[in-house]
Amino acid sequence: MQFFVDTADVGEIAELAASGLVDGVTTNPTLVARTGRPLFDVLAEICALVPGPVSAEVAATDFDGMLREAHRLAEIAGNICVKLPLTWDGLKACRRLSAEGIATNLTLCFHPAQALLAARAGATFVSPFVGRLDDIGHRGMELVEQICAIYRNYPETIRTRVLAASIRNLGHVVEAARAGAHVATVPPAVLRAMVQHPLTDKGLAGFLADWQKTGQRIV
Ligand code: E4P
Repeated sequence: MQFFVDTADVGEIAELAASGLVDGVTTNPTLVARTGRPLFDVLAEICALVPGPVSAEVAATDFDGMLREAHRLAEIAGNICVKLPLTWDGLKACRRLSAEGIATNLTLCFHPAQALLAARAGATFVSPFVGRLDDIGHRGMELVEQICAIYRNYPETIRTRVLAASIRNLGHVVEAARAGAHVATVPPAVLRAMVQHPLTDKGLAGFLADWQKTGQRIV
């Protein structure tokens, strides 16, 4: 499974990308607004930090407007992946951009039927939103499971990758991997939490204390 980081905070991305464990970045208008910075500056900096796909979302809701914005966003860097809402116009724009060789991410996916259309439109990624479904009392992960199962039925024709989004905790990450999602986009705090375990810390402290008693050095 690949990991994208779900933030527009350049400082956070730089720190996490230095680990070599970040395969891409997803941003959205809310995350960009949170930075208080100009969109194009933020995206150019992120694209320079992470070689993998950087999702940049259009703000237009009509086909022509989406295409205009998509082309402008795609000029920022070769690794921009244009994020489009899973609407009829978004699907049309996705189809056109896919034909032009521009990477796309169909976002705000809440039903497997939408994911089927995303695949038909040639989307590079489809983003099922897990946490937001949990928020309204559904089991969000079921959506990821269903999309992965459906896509597996068409290995010859469906190339769209399932990008589990709206991830809120470690359980979501593990369950998305079990379902077969290709990618999880995770908030920085969740990515950091993935390495933490009290028994790891306790075990390391014990090993270090015992090693010190030997009086030896490795280098
Ligand atoms: C994905 O690309 C979105 O940016 C993100 O995962 C949305 O998550 P949220 O529901 O926590 O806002």
